[in-house]
Amino acid sequence: MKLVTAIVRPERVQQVKEALFRAGISGLTLSRVSGHGGEQEIVEHYRGRRVMVEFRDKVEVRMAVSDAFVDAAVQAIVQGARTGEVGDGKIFVQPLERVIRIRTGEQDTAALTPVTETKLTPA
Ligand SMILES: Nc1ncnc2c1ncn2[C@@H]1O[C@H](COP(=O)(O)OP(=O)(O)OP(=O)(O)O)[C@@H](O)[C@H]1O
Ligand SMILES: [Mg+2]
Repeated sequence: MKLVTAIVRPERVQQVKEALFRAGISGLTLSRVSGHGGEQEIVEHYRGRRVMVEFRDKVEVRMAVSDAFVDAAVQAIVQGARTGEVGDGKIFVQPLERVIRIRTGEQDTAALTPVTETKLTPA
C-alpha cells in the first residue's frame, strides 16, 4: 500500500478528481494548502538583492491505494493537473503501513476496497 500525495493548482482539482474517478480511485482527502516550489525569486532592491519566497494557494490531494493502483493514480493526477507551465505541482509516493476502516475493523487492502452497494447501510 502507498500514500499518494499530490499538490496541484486549485483550478485543476475538478479535472484531477474526474481523472482519478475514471481510474477507479474514489477515496481521497482534499486540503487547501499554501506552498512554494523551491525556486528562488530574486528581487533587486536599492540596498541590495533580496530573496523573495512567495507562497501560492494549492490543493493537496491525498489517497491511500493498494500497490496495483499507484501507477494509475499517478497517471490520472498528471493528466488532470498538467498545464505545462511552472507551478503544476508535485506527486509524492510513500509506503503505507496500515489502514483500518473504522466501521468494520477491516484492515489494509480490505479496508481500501470500496464498499459495494449491497454492503452499504444507511448513514
Ligand atoms: N520539495 C517539495 N516538498 C514539499 N512540497 C513541495 C515541494 N516542491 C513543491 N512542493 C509543493 O508543490 C507546489 C507546486 O510546486 P511547483 O509545481 O512549483 O514545483 P517545482 O518543482 O517548482 O516545479 P515547476 O518547475 O514546474 O514549478 C508548491 O507550492 C508546494 O506546495
Ligand atoms: Mg515551481
